[in-house]
Amino acid sequence: MQIKELLETEDLYQGYTYSYPHKMAYRSLEDKSLQEIWTKQNLDNLFYYVHIPYCEMRCGFCNLFTVANPKEGVKLYLESIRREMETYKKVLPKLSFKNFAIGGGTPTFLKEDELNFLLEGMNAFGVDTKKYYGSIEASPKTLSAEKINIVEKFGITRLSLGIQSWKEEEVKALGRPQNIQDTEKAVNLLAQSKIPEFNLDLIYGAKGQTVESFMYSVEKTISFQPTEIFLYPLYLRQLTGLGKKGVEDNTNRKQLYLAARDKLLASGYEQTSMRCFRKANTAFETNNEEYDSIQDGMIGVGAGARSYTSNFHYSTDYAVAKKEIKSIIDKYSQKENFEHIKHGIFLNEEEQKRRFLIKSITDGGIFNTATYTKNFKTNAFEEFDLLNELVERKFLTEINKNIFRLSLKGMVYEDVIGPALYSENVVNLINRYDWK
Ligand SMILES: C[S@@+](CC[C@H](N)C(=O)[O-])C[C@H]1O[C@@H](n2cnc3c(N)ncnc32)[C@H](O)[C@@H]1O
Ligand code: SF4
Repeated sequence: MQIKELLETEDLYQGYTYSYPHKMAYRSLEDKSLQEIWTKQNLDNLFYYVHIPYCEMRCGFCNLFTVANPKEGVKLYLESIRREMETYKKVLPKLSFKNFAIGGGTPTFLKEDELNFLLEGMNAFGVDTKKYYGSIEASPKTLSAEKINIVEKFGITRLSLGIQSWKEEEVKALGRPQNIQDTEKAVNLLAQSKIPEFNLDLIYGAKGQTVESFMYSVEKTISFQPTEIFLYPLYLRQLTGLGKKGVEDNTNRKQLYLAARDKLLASGYEQTSMRCFRKANTAFETNNEEYDSIQDGMIGVGAGARSYTSNFHYSTDYAVAKKEIKSIIDKYSQKENFEHIKHGIFLNEEEQKRRFLIKSITDGGIFNTATYTKNFKTNAFEEFDLLNELVERKFLTEINKNIFRLSLKGMVYEDVIGPALYSENVVNLINRYDWK
């Protein structure tokens, strides 16, 4: 599709670009050692990510790398995370983390002693959970007053909770066995806690959802005054429960989105990206500014976690189907040697440029043209026609000299703009991904 047609399309939901390249573009490689991968990288300003691939349920819409209620428990997995961290520490003693996230899956699926074990291990590894900005994910049923106490004790700044919908019939249509009373109880605990920031996720596009029913969920969510509210358009993905059932795309997602956006803007929330609305005038807590996701690296530990340097991204193998995920987790839980990497993708200069643009423009990013020129010695507007078209349409606006941001109009097109910046090579790799 030509750029002009692309930015006029009614099909706004082409893909959520939360990382580039997606793990579906990773492939098996010849062994590389951690030492080789990280030499010449700046180790001062790293992001730490730990992946907990467990949940109390498997939701029909979800393609994240996770399994529900593992019979064998999680002890071996958590011990393996410790071994992986020890390996990094041994090979790269100068590592220094400035930001962190505990994601999944559902990290609060862990029992209290397991959560303590995980967080103590992180602190010992040098992830200062009290000093730096960090976030943990949770689901309503797995959140308790005791687990909130643990999150407070370790000084974690933000907790992110999946609500999806406050309507029983909609969570059911989403294939999420969730009870509204449990949700209400969890959100009340969170709103009364000392955790400085919390966010609540909603999904729009469930079968049978109307503007009116979605607005009920949006208004109820606003009533708890979370720091952030995320609105996710429903994507139906291969091998998920809904995908396998052949449920069709909801055609009124744009209408639902625009109604909710306007309500949030009128209720004291600012839009920072297509999905994220942040309570106006809430400064970010503790040292959020030190880490720059475009320039700085990330170390992800656990099965399914991604890591990246400036030119190489890697992870364990990736899967969506239950059997495959389980086998990757089992292998991880028994692993002794973490020094060698076998799965990932190299980013040549073109891919680095594309990643810079995607991270700068989508998902709340800020595009600094001077930094682009400093890094690549070229002018992005001469290289990517899409950028000129975005500026012409006022989708991308200059908010300060050399600093561009998506406008509210542009954010509507975020899931079109992200995929439009993928290289042909990455599109081919994703298309040829062997679904499992
Ligand atoms: C890791 S989960 C959140 C934490 C927790 N596991 C839970 O479900 O409550 C990340 C969020 O991504 C969103 N999400 C996941 N898959 C999605 C899909 N296929 N379409 C739309 N949103 C999706 C959901 O809103 C979900 O809350
Ligand atoms: S949406 Fe959350 S709880 Fe449901 S399967 Fe995905 S990660 Fe697990």
